[in-house]
Amino acid sequence: MSDIKDVSLARQGESRINWALKEMPVISNLMQQFTDDRPLQGVRISACLHITTETANLARTLKAAGADLVLCASNPLSTQDDVAAALVEKYHIPVFAIRGESTEIYYQHIQAALDHQPVMTMDDGADLVSEMHKTRIELLDNMLGGTEETTTGVIRLRAMADDNALKFPVMAVNDAMTKHLFDNRYGTGQSVLDGIIRATNILLAGKTFTIVGYGWCGRGVAMRAEGHGAHVIICEVDPIRALEATMDGYRVMPLLEAARQSDFIVTVTGDKHIVDKAHLEVMKDGCILANAGHFNVEINIPTLESLCIKKSQPRQYVEEYTLKDGRTICLLANGRLVNLAAAEGHPSAVMDMSFANQVMCAIYLHQNHGQLTNSVHNVPAEVDQQIAQHKLSAMGLKIDQLSDEQQHYLSSWQEGTS
Ligand code: ADE
Repeated sequence: MSDIKDVSLARQGESRINWALKEMPVISNLMQQFTDDRPLQGVRISACLHITTETANLARTLKAAGADLVLCASNPLSTQDDVAAALVEKYHIPVFAIRGESTEIYYQHIQAALDHQPVMTMDDGADLVSEMHKTRIELLDNMLGGTEETTTGVIRLRAMADDNALKFPVMAVNDAMTKHLFDNRYGTGQSVLDGIIRATNILLAGKTFTIVGYGWCGRGVAMRAEGHGAHVIICEVDPIRALEATMDGYRVMPLLEAARQSDFIVTVTGDKHIVDKAHLEVMKDGCILANAGHFNVEINIPTLESLCIKKSQPRQYVEEYTLKDGRTICLLANGRLVNLAAAEGHPSAVMDMSFANQVMCAIYLHQNHGQLTNSVHNVPAEVDQQIAQHKLSAMGLKIDQLSDEQQHYLSSWQEGTS
């Protein structure tokens, strides 16, 4: 059983999935290795992820490892329908995901994935775990654990654990170094710019480009926007991050001030109503708003709707709102993740490491069944190191090693000034 858009798209999907695999050497090696070892033999996994070419290669790897896997979308607008078709038709992995599905269908698809009676979840944003705890508590007893891909999901799960509501262990894949330093920074940096450019085709050079949130994702977006010649402004609530942004060379100011002068505003905070009525009221005429945070709550869209007298769609993924005073404001991709809705998400080369962490964590949960507390766990440092080492080798790079003398020096306290 599956629910996808059009199975006839499978050939195109398969071709793109194989193209992506060429940039995913770590996943590719694991896929080959697991075909013999089958470390997840018979493990029922429900995964709620963006259905992209990279996710397809993760799914193939889990299947090669013996997992009994179903997939549903982690965002209504990120599914690549040809990939969903290929997963079903070519790789025989059930998928419940249709690009542009309503919120109602989105949750029906999550329920369909839970009907698989998973013993393990793989989440991007924690919707699967949250729905299971709210509506399918009969499944909780059999759970080995779950993995979580993204910052927002890890924050939600930590809140559940703090409330003693989390009923199985979850691995915070997002927090692995080989995940957030690359995926969140370089992946978001490239894919958000890609999404904005594909959606608008507007020159960024010379424009004022505001980024709200200077976490790993915000840093990546700022770096790449600057690379395009934009004048970058950073808005932050954390004084340390704000200082970092200043010393990285960006202008820092409150959003209310930035809104008056920005040609683009991108939210990357993980929080709600970041762009709110007060900002919309003073916003520069023609400003383009995009969201790169997990949920579509960062821009207060209901308020934008209420302030507007006319709405049009000049291009796919661009909605132009005309306000009562004549100003226009453009919203990209309905305020959903602009990089996955208007482009194809992060490039394969970074997802390679993120998804290698997913696979290794699934195996870790399986091997440590019954030994982990019902809380959010870090990816073991050895796993992180191994993935980095594999990636370096695949890139043809060698690094130095400490000599015995240097190793000894680092672990001794006697030697000082000489
Ligand atoms: N999240 C961001 N980019 C992604 C991609 N290419 N595939 C799956 N999840 C993603």
